[in-house]
Amino acid sequence: MKACLLSGLSVIAVAVVVQACGDDHGHSHSHAKRSQPGATQPTSWPSSPLVWGDINFIHTTDSHGHQKSSYPNRTIGHGDFGDFSSFVTHLKKEAERRNVDLLLVDSGDLHDGTGLSDGFPAGGVDGHESNKLIQELPYDVLAIGNHELYIYPVTLDMYESFAPYWNGRYLSSNVNITVTDKKTGIWYQFPLEVADLIRNFPRMSLSDSASILARYRKFETLRGRKVTAFGVLFNFKGNAANTTVQLVEDMVNETWFKMAIQEEPDFFLLVGHMPVQRDHWPNVFNAIRSVHPYTPIFIFGGHTHIRDCVQLDTRSMSLESGRYMETVGWMSAKLDDKNSTAPLNITRRYLDPNRNTCVSLLRLYKYHTQLRDFDTRKGHEISQQILTLTNKFNLSYIFGTAPQDYFLSRAPFPSNNSLFSLLTDKLLPTVLPRVNPVRAQAVPSIAIINSGSQRFDLYAGPFSCNDQFVVSPFTNKFLYFSVPYSIGRQILNVLNAPTSGGSKRSGSSMLADYEDPAEYARGNVDARFNQWKRAQWERAQQQQANDDHKRGGEHWGGHYNPHHVKSTLTLGYVTKDSCPGVGDDTLHTPLPYYPSPPDYIASPLPTGLRDDSQMDVIFLDFFASSVVSALNQLQSVQTYSVGDAKAYGDLSTNTMFDIYAQIAWN
Ligand SMILES: *[C@@H]1O[C@H](CO)[C@@H](O)[C@H](O)[C@H]1NC(C)=O
Ligand SMILES: *[C@@H]1O[C@H](CO)[C@@H](O)[C@H](O)[C@H]1NC(C)=O
Ligand SMILES: *[C@@H]1O[C@H](CO)[C@@H](O)[C@H](O)[C@H]1NC(C)=O
Ligand SMILES: *[C@@H]1O[C@H](CO)[C@@H](O)[C@H](O)[C@H]1NC(C)=O
Ligand SMILES: *[C@@H]1O[C@H](CO)[C@@H](O)[C@H](O)[C@H]1NC(C)=O
Ligand SMILES: *[C@@H]1O[C@H](CO)[C@@H](O)[C@H](O)[C@H]1NC(C)=O
Ligand SMILES: *[C@@H]1O[C@H](CO)[C@@H](O)[C@H](O)[C@H]1NC(C)=O
Ligand SMILES: *[C@@H]1O[C@H](CO)[C@@H](O)[C@H](O)[C@H]1NC(C)=O
Ligand SMILES: [Zn+2]
Ligand SMILES: [Zn+2]
Repeated sequence: MKACLLSGLSVIAVAVVVQACGDDHGHSHSHAKRSQPGATQPTSWPSSPLVWGDINFIHTTDSHGHQKSSYPNRTIGHGDFGDFSSFVTHLKKEAERRNVDLLLVDSGDLHDGTGLSDGFPAGGVDGHESNKLIQELPYDVLAIGNHELYIYPVTLDMYESFAPYWNGRYLSSNVNITVTDKKTGIWYQFPLEVADLIRNFPRMSLSDSASILARYRKFETLRGRKVTAFGVLFNFKGNAANTTVQLVEDMVNETWFKMAIQEEPDFFLLVGHMPVQRDHWPNVFNAIRSVHPYTPIFIFGGHTHIRDCVQLDTRSMSLESGRYMETVGWMSAKLDDKNSTAPLNITRRYLDPNRNTCVSLLRLYKYHTQLRDFDTRKGHEISQQILTLTNKFNLSYIFGTAPQDYFLSRAPFPSNNSLFSLLTDKLLPTVLPRVNPVRAQAVPSIAIINSGSQRFDLYAGPFSCNDQFVVSPFTNKFLYFSVPYSIGRQILNVLNAPTSGGSKRSGSSMLADYEDPAEYARGNVDARFNQWKRAQWERAQQQQANDDHKRGGEHWGGHYNPHHVKSTLTLGYVTKDSCPGVGDDTLHTPLPYYPSPPDYIASPLPTGLRDDSQMDVIFLDFFASSVVSALNQLQSVQTYSVGDAKAYGDLSTNTMFDIYAQIAWN
């Protein structure tokens, strides 16, 4: 783990990175200025009012991410949790005015991906501090995600600190943790949400506790509607020792589950870290439907980071609300008579959580909020807490100023705007000699990294400690072998060959969205997310081609509408899901999508070497075994083994950008 903090120093804030949903640039007001440096007035606006029902939901999922003011268009402000809190408060008031219910739900993945969770100082636990921000929001149901389960101390912290706070609202229907009783040393297995009960009844025997375990929540809304809620995780296989994930199809066969669904509520609320299509929601849905054929079921999924919606039947809807607080989901339904079998009126909307969305929605509902009244005291406090944590973790420390944007999939590889090209052509050749100067001087080298080692785009402007966590958070070390040039010059091709590494996907860059089932089970969602982005881009290209055709051909003067062309819309997600009507609240033109590079990419091969001269092959510990297989496949003079690889200086993937920024961008 890496922190931006050097121990024992006091912290000085360099820049304030808090963007206000309701920041009113047009009016003077008393709040501290809360805007991203360089931010301008956004110009993209929601397309139409939200449709309210008797029951309404606000949904967040996979909030572990950049939370930059910029994605995908840096001129459009991005709200923080403080703004989100203010927004929720205003909508709750509006619900009260309309005498309807509004519930707030979250589908998990609160860890990994921003400095606020990952930038903790030595001795801390990932997410322990940022979870306190989540606790400021009035969630009704939360579900656990796979990122809460990779590292046992993180799960334990959720169990000891987070779950008790929610008093039965944090659900883990098919996830257990094994904990030790500190007095007796006996290990017990519990669903996470019962921590509170255990704490209150410390001498409870295991059999006693088993009889009162609740992996679901039954509650009544403010307006007296009965709800039965579950929190379900997909069939995740990458969890830490002493955490247990039960298969969804097994969970629905459990006696406790069957008993929990016997009583008919006004609706079932299924919140879970599982995509709404191509996964196991139908198991849960069908189990309920076999008992209650017409009871409304509202499903809130997550995990693949996309916007998606499907209706498993006419009296239910399943919504997935994107990732990284780029999207806030909305669902509403008119609840009809208990015995009705008619299709339910259900709507959904994907909101861009920026200040335009917040303010214009409030205005559209005749909620006469002036922009300057938007921030609630609570929202303002949360933004202050974020600032305090940012300072405490030294996250706004600036290493340098990036001259331009560098993209993962918005620019082709190789190209000047590709983050991968920056890495191979500039960063590695600059940074490696810095960390191992003597050897770099004496021995030519090639440095290889896996393209999956990078997590997010890098934007022009100040490159802060937080950006380091967002762009390249993984902690892989650089190792090397000394090999003859005749071997070294072939290694990249062998690594990228389809046969190498068993189940590894083909080296062809066209297959970046190929889904490896084993990777999916371990929680890797890149393939699905890439498929989704690629489809948006391809649809737009197709549309453009059709329009060009019409304009040029006989259909000119027909239905061609020049105004729908991308020029008037801002960049963003363009969702095509399986639910009726338009889902995206703000219409966008899609982000360009280029296939990822091959699995392995490398700095330029040294030139002018003889086949028998020695060179260094530098690589990441993450794929050391693949390098070793490749070397042993290429020659038989020597048998390489992972243990023989040496460290190439003290460098890892989560420090290389700050070193580079200090050298090249200062
Ligand atoms: C913040 O991080 C920078 C870069 O690592 C470091 O130079 C500085 O001393 C840190 N400040 C504190 C207070 O730890
Ligand atoms: C897992 O739990 C067992 C007791 O059931 C304990 O002996 C072991 O040390 C734990 N392992 C880890 C990695 O925590
Ligand atoms: C989870 O823990 C409960 C209570 O100890 C136990 O009954 C159940 O079998 C466990 N489930 C799994 C999948 O381990
Ligand atoms: C669930 O239970 C039913 C009936 O008891 C059985 O037929 C089915 O195979 C079980 N499913 C699983 C996944 O265990
Ligand atoms: C629903 O149907 C049951 C049985 O037919 C009937 O007793 C009950 O009154 C009905 N409820 C409503 C709200 O119509
Ligand atoms: C559903 O919505 C449509 C369109 O707003 C309306 O005509 C219809 O009456 C509604 N149905 C119910 C059951 O509320
Ligand atoms: C890419 O950068 C190089 C070097 O800075 C420059 O010569 C070249 O023109 C750039 N190419 C494009 C397409 O901008
Ligand atoms: C970003 O948003 C600004 C303000 O709405 C707009 O002027 C600009 O064209 C947008 N840029 C892109 C690439 O969408
Ligand atoms: Zn996620
Ligand atoms: Zn996930």
